[in-house]
Amino acid sequence: MTHDPTPDARHIGPVLMDLKNITLRFGGVTAIKDISFDIREGEIRAIIGPNGAGKSSMLNVISGFYVPQEGEIWFEGKRRPAMKPYEVARLGLARTFQNIALFDGMSVLDNIMTGRLNKMNAPLWSQALWWGRAEREEVENRAQVEKIIDFLEIQNIRKTPVGRLPYGLKKRVELARALAAEPRILLLDEPMAGMNVEEKEDMCRFILDVNDEFGTTIALIEHDMGVVMDLSDRVVVMDYGKKIGDGTPDEVRNNPEVISAYLGVEHA
Ligand SMILES: Nc1ncnc2c1ncn2[C@@H]1O[C@H](COP(=O)(O)OP(=O)(O)O)[C@@H](O)[C@H]1O
Ligand SMILES: [Mg+2]
Repeated sequence: MTHDPTPDARHIGPVLMDLKNITLRFGGVTAIKDISFDIREGEIRAIIGPNGAGKSSMLNVISGFYVPQEGEIWFEGKRRPAMKPYEVARLGLARTFQNIALFDGMSVLDNIMTGRLNKMNAPLWSQALWWGRAEREEVENRAQVEKIIDFLEIQNIRKTPVGRLPYGLKKRVELARALAAEPRILLLDEPMAGMNVEEKEDMCRFILDVNDEFGTTIALIEHDMGVVMDLSDRVVVMDYGKKIGDGTPDEVRNNPEVISAYLGVEHA
C-alpha cells in the first residue's frame, strides 16, 4: 500500500496552488488563522488535525467555495479572484464531501455523469438537436466515464440506484463522480471516514492508483494517522485554525507540537 514518496520517482512538479496568509471567519469564529502552504503538481497533500481544527473550511477555501477575509490564493501562477459558483466548477477542483452527497434515487452511472456537467459546452439548441459538437461531447463524456468505472472496478453496479449500495461503495461512487470532472486538484474530505478496515484499504489503493495512473494532484483530509502516513507526500497539520506543522509524514510525526496537539490525544 505504501508508495515511493520521492518526488523524482513520481514526477512531482512545480507549485500548482499557493495559499498565502489565509484567514477565514464565520461571525465571531475564526476557522482559519493566517495559514500559508502550497500544493505541488502531482502530489498527495494531506491536511490533518483534531475535530474543529478548520480542515473542512480549508478545503472549501481551496475549492473556491469559501472566500477568505484575508490572504491570497495563487493558482497556476495567477492570483485567483473571488468566484461565482459556476466559475468554481470551471476551475476544475472537484471534491468529495465529509458526508456523502450523491443522488440516492439515481443509478451509479447517472451519478457519475453529473460529474461531467462542467465539461458540457455545447449550446442547448445543438444538444436538443443532437448534432455536431453536442454529439461529440456526449461520446467523449461517455468514454471518460466508462474509463473511470473500469478503473474503480464498479462495472457490476453501474445500473444500481446509489441508495441501495453499502457505505464503502457509495464513497467509491463519489470518488468516481469527482474524477469524472477531470479535476486539476482532487479534493477529498475524509474519504475513509466510517469505513471498515477492508473498505479503507480499498479506498487507499484507489487513491494511490488515481494519483499514479492519471497523475492527479490530490488534497485530502484524513483522521487516520496510519492512512496519512501511507498516502501522503506532505502533510499540513492544523489545530484551532492555526498551522502547527508542515512537512513529510516523518517530519510531522516527529514534530513535538504536533505530537502534543494531535497525535498524543484520542480523536473521535
Ligand atoms: N459554515 C460555518 N458557519 C459557522 N461556523 C463554521 C462553519 N463551518 C465551520 N465553522 C466553524 O469553524 C471551525 C472549523 O470547522 P471545520 O472547518 O468544519 O473543522 P474540521 O473540518 O477540522 O473539523 C469550527 O469551530 C466550526 O464550528
Ligand atoms: Mg471536517
